[in-house]
This record gives sequence, structure tokens and C-alpha cells, in this order.
Amino acid sequence: QRLELELDSIEKGGYEHFMLKEIFEQPRSILDSMRGRLELDGGHLNMAGFRAYEQKFVNAHRIIIVACGTSWHAGLVAEYLIEDLARIPVEVEYASEFRYRNPVISERDIVIAISQSGETADTLAALELAKSKGATIFGICNVVGSSIARATDAGAYTHAGPEIGVASTKAFTAQVTVLVLLAMSIGQRRGTLSETKVRELMAELHSIPAKVEKALKLDAEIQVIAETFKDVPNFLYLGRGYNFPVALEGALKLKEISYIHAEGYPAAEMKHGPIALIDENMPVVVIATRDSSYEKVVSNIQEVKARKGRIIAVVTEGDTTIPAMAEFVIEVPPTSEVLTPLVSVIPLQLLSYHIAVLRGCNVDQPRNLAKSVTVE
Ligand code: G6P
Repeated sequence: QRLELELDSIEKGGYEHFMLKEIFEQPRSILDSMRGRLELDGGHLNMAGFRAYEQKFVNAHRIIIVACGTSWHAGLVAEYLIEDLARIPVEVEYASEFRYRNPVISERDIVIAISQSGETADTLAALELAKSKGATIFGICNVVGSSIARATDAGAYTHAGPEIGVASTKAFTAQVTVLVLLAMSIGQRRGTLSETKVRELMAELHSIPAKVEKALKLDAEIQVIAETFKDVPNFLYLGRGYNFPVALEGALKLKEISYIHAEGYPAAEMKHGPIALIDENMPVVVIATRDSSYEKVVSNIQEVKARKGRIIAVVTEGDTTIPAMAEFVIEVPPTSEVLTPLVSVIPLQLLSYHIAVLRGCNVDQPRNLAKSVTVE
């Protein structure tokens, strides 16, 4: 018994839960996911799986991303990334819907399957369907040799290391990192991304692990916020642009492990429904980093405030506007807009973790959930 307990604590590396360990591993896992793929000196991107299918990507009419859960959120980030940097239309699909919809797929389409485990039944079936219609299949998996990795034509592993906590954290940031590298590689090859921009983004990507490290230092502050809100029945998460998928991911993390009902929304859609829920009891997490939608998000915050919602804002360091409007402000380091999700998701992971712990929930193995869903 004692030995088992000791083994357990060794595996957790001194952390109380695998999830917390994995959250804190992110500076390292993000670095691992780009290791060998960034040649800062020459301005080269080195994605072996991409190189073999370079022409297919260059000539692709469309990219369809299939995934489930958190991996689907990484896919949504990729929609912004690939359309922005490589100018190819992207569709992001729930694998479970795509596979039963009789989707229109052609040989000029590339399907990207994203899966941490590489074993999700719906994602595997979706890619098999696309393959049977002649599309090229690119996989982004964490588990080496997994079913999805084996079923694809080419791909890139995320190299995040084993993820044990059911709620995905480091796998998500590794997926986004690989998707950034992929979008940049396609953009560079298609000429939609200038060499200057490529070098700029490479340097910025290189600085992300240190910025994530800094965001992790917010842990104590976030515990205080968790104490304040641990007993509420509902949460709303809002974000725009690159931070819209982050809002969805923040809400998913909270419901998965704390069993608090949470919804993520694009901030501007709030007025088409969720705004009706806002009163003095509703916590609203707004991701309002300094990017192209900043001013718009500020006015969304004002709309929440006018209805007495309790605002928790994730902002860029040094923001002087939002602190006057929010009950809590979480400051994250500035980065390039396209890389924002890698930094802004960190405090949301920590918030859900601490709320779940305070509520006495089983953080690593939440009720009714499985790490990998191998049945439909
Ligand atoms: C399950 C897990 C989630 C995960 C999803 C997709 O629901 O609990 O954390 O995001 O499956 O899994 P995959 O392994 O395909 O990324």
C-alpha cells in the first residue's frame, strides 16, 4: 500500500494531480513539440510529414479538420491560423457529425485528423471515410503508433509526452504549436507568408515556452479567484478571433472537472442569447488580450458590466482600460496574435483545476468521462 502511494507520488512528480503536473509541464512540452522543427538561423521550418506532401498542400482546394473534444478546439484555432497564414479555406468538423453526413469530399481536399490518443472512434471513422473518397489524410496525434497515426498518409506527432489527466491540457497546447508550424509551412510554400513574417513568427514561437512559464506564475492569484467562484452554478466564457476557441476550451475544462455548467461563446454572439442569463450572480470570463478584436471585446465587457455580470478578464500585461471594469484581472505576457491561444489558455486551465479541487472533485478522473473514447 505504502509502496503504491509512493509510486503514485513519484509519477505525479510531486504534484497533487496529473492534471496540475501536465499544466506545469507545458513550457517543456511546447518546446518538445517544436524541437527540430524550427531552424531559427536559416529561417527554415522542418516538418518532415509536411515535406512529403508539400505539393498536395500547395494545391489543396480546401482543408477539412476532423476531431472531437479539446482536439476539435485546437482545430478551430487552426481554422484561423491556416486561413490567415496560408489562405486556404478551412472547415472544422465534429468527427461524429462529419462521418454520418454524406459530406462532399474531393481528391483536392486535405483532411487533417487531430487526436491526442489517436484512438477516438469517431475521428478514425471520419478519416477512413475521407480516405475512401480520395482525400489526402494528415494526422496530428500525440500517441506514437496509435490507430489514427497509422491510418493517415502523413502527419506530425505532437510529442507532448503521456497525458494521464482526462481533461486535456498539454496535448492542446502541443496541438496548437504543431498547427502553427503547419500553417506557417504551407504559407511559406504558397508564398502567402513573407520571409520576414516567417522569421518574426519563428522568433516569437521560440519565446512562447518562457511566456507560458510566466503565465503559470499566476497560479496563486487564480486560486483566489477560484475561492470566490467555487460555488456558483454557471459560468460564461467569451472571446473573439483566436480567443474564441480558447473561450470554448476554458468552458469545457470547467464542466469536465468541476461539473459547473459553463458555456463558451464568441463574444459578439452574446447578444443573441446568453446576455439574457447575465445578472449579478453570473461570472463571465472574458479573454481580452491586446489583439485586432481588443476594442470590440472591451465593448462586450461593457455590455456585461451594464447587466452587473461579474467579470474575470484575461488581459495583456499593462492593460489600463479593463482593470477599471473587471472584478478580477489576469495579466498574461504579450505575444503575436496568432500565438495568443498558447498563452491565454493557461490561466483558464488553472482556474478550472483549482475550482474542481476546492469542490472536492476527482480532477484526474472525472465522473462519466474517459481519456479516450473508442466507441461511438
Ligand atoms: C475525450 C477526452 C477529451 C478529448 C477527446 C478527444 O472526450 O476526455 O479530453 O479531448 O476525447 O480525444 P482525442 O484523443 O481524440 O484527442
